[in-house]
Amino acid sequence: MSALAKQTITEQEFQGFAVTDFPASKRLKVVTLDEATIRAFNDAVSEWTVQGIEYKPFLRFEVADRLDAITNYTLGKFLNATVRDRATGAFLLNYQGSPNVEEGDARTEFEVKLSTAVSHIIGLSNHDAMYGQYYARFTVRNVDDSDSYLRKAHRRMELHNDGTYVNERTDYVLMQKLKEENMQGGDSLMLHLDDWAELDKFYKHPLAKKDIVWGAPKSKNVESKVEHPVFFEEDADGKPLMLYIDQFAEPSNKAEGKYLYEMGESLEADANFLSVPMPVGSMMVMHNHFWLHGRDKFVPHPDLCRELLRQRGHFTE
Ligand SMILES: [Fe+2]
Repeated sequence: MSALAKQTITEQEFQGFAVTDFPASKRLKVVTLDEATIRAFNDAVSEWTVQGIEYKPFLRFEVADRLDAITNYTLGKFLNATVRDRATGAFLLNYQGSPNVEEGDARTEFEVKLSTAVSHIIGLSNHDAMYGQYYARFTVRNVDDSDSYLRKAHRRMELHNDGTYVNERTDYVLMQKLKEENMQGGDSLMLHLDDWAELDKFYKHPLAKKDIVWGAPKSKNVESKVEHPVFFEEDADGKPLMLYIDQFAEPSNKAEGKYLYEMGESLEADANFLSVPMPVGSMMVMHNHFWLHGRDKFVPHPDLCRELLRQRGHFTE
């Protein structure tokens, strides 16, 4: 466990936010910022636009510091400890009331600044080649002609880790809901490695540590392929860290194909997953190597529309 994960902070010390356990699992913490906190944050960062934050990377840390300072640095302590601790490793962050910002573009600007603050309290977000920024915004509609399951509404997106086909470390994933219309279903799905009943079967398999090739479809704008095993590393306590996605693995023989196929079947059949509804304005942040994530299918609707923002990055400690 890292030094940051060992930092403990008690509930009495929280300033400007509250924390509860997600009803179905203590591993997932629900963090709610007070209305006063988000209003103070909006004032504290109003001098910068999102464009400015895109152009000047150092502003991302400044935005993060302004939010943390409002909570007397208790928020950063809690979020860092939570996301790095294998026993938890994830939080759903939302806020009470309203930031006192007009709906529409101004509100979206506020949301982008808030997720920038949260991600840069815990690390540094990687460049997202699909969108060309340190984050990506994308819309899911009823009809889609893209080349991966990211934007396909009517099917379940299988459990996976992010960052399988890039060389950069992807310690954390942040998903934020910016907009939603005519949506039924589509909850976030999550499975913690230590809750996966068949983890040992696959971790102790002869192919667990064998390099596999991973590539990406065209829309991801990543040309090169990478090689790494599914269980690419162990944490400080010797427990496995995982880097797997069904769609982008390129097995080189039948044995690898079968190993990956059976892994996908086992993950999808496991009953210990969490189904987490995410209201507009909320964000999910998780450790990318001890949590797998996916998305449940939606009920079709001709005017279905959902806009998401994602950030993927590495811890900076
Ligand atoms: Fe993902």
